[in-house]
Amino acid sequence: MIPDALTLARAVHVLAIVHWIGGVCAVTTIVLPQARRLADTDAAVELFESFERRFVRQVRISIALAGLSGLYMLYALDAWDRFRHASFWWLHLMVAVWCMFALMVYVIEPLFAHRRFRELASRDAAGAFALAARLHLVALTLSAIAIAAGVLGAHGALP
Ligand code: HEM
Repeated sequence: MIPDALTLARAVHVLAIVHWIGGVCAVTTIVLPQARRLADTDAAVELFESFERRFVRQVRISIALAGLSGLYMLYALDAWDRFRHASFWWLHLMVAVWCMFALMVYVIEPLFAHRRFRELASRDAAGAFALAARLHLVALTLSAIAIAAGVLGAHGALP
């Protein structure tokens, strides 16, 4: 049986999100704590940034695919009016999480994130890494809530 376009879009959406948020989880729970343990600031910044540089190139593609497949599902389900109902808060949350990351990887990161982080780290390495850890943790937590609520909401299991 050949899956229809809506089901294919759902598969692309989930796959893109697994790649994207899986990577965010790896940075937050493995790369950042490992970098923070290094005594040498330059080595710590290099470890963190070498992962981020590679990951950001990949994640620009998965974020675009997640957004396009999400928009396609809204179109195919003709579900635009869901944005007018608070009960679809999980859909609002998905779009908010998407916008937050899109702003980061398409605008802030290429323009000034690395320079600012290096400046901060050269003045106060512990403070810079603590800030990076906090921001990653907030982004990961919101994403995890969006994923759990997205599955529950899409399958009619939320009030
Ligand atoms: C522009 C951004 C996005 C749009 C327009 C969008 C839209 C959608 C739509 C229309 C659905 C199907 C709902 C249904 O079947 O009733 C969906 C499902 C889902 N979305 Fe998103 N989404 C976006 C971003 C995200 C993000 C950032 C996440 C998670 C971090 C996410 C996670 C999910 C999950 C887990 C599902 C449920 C898949 C399933 O079990 O069927 N989405 N999304």
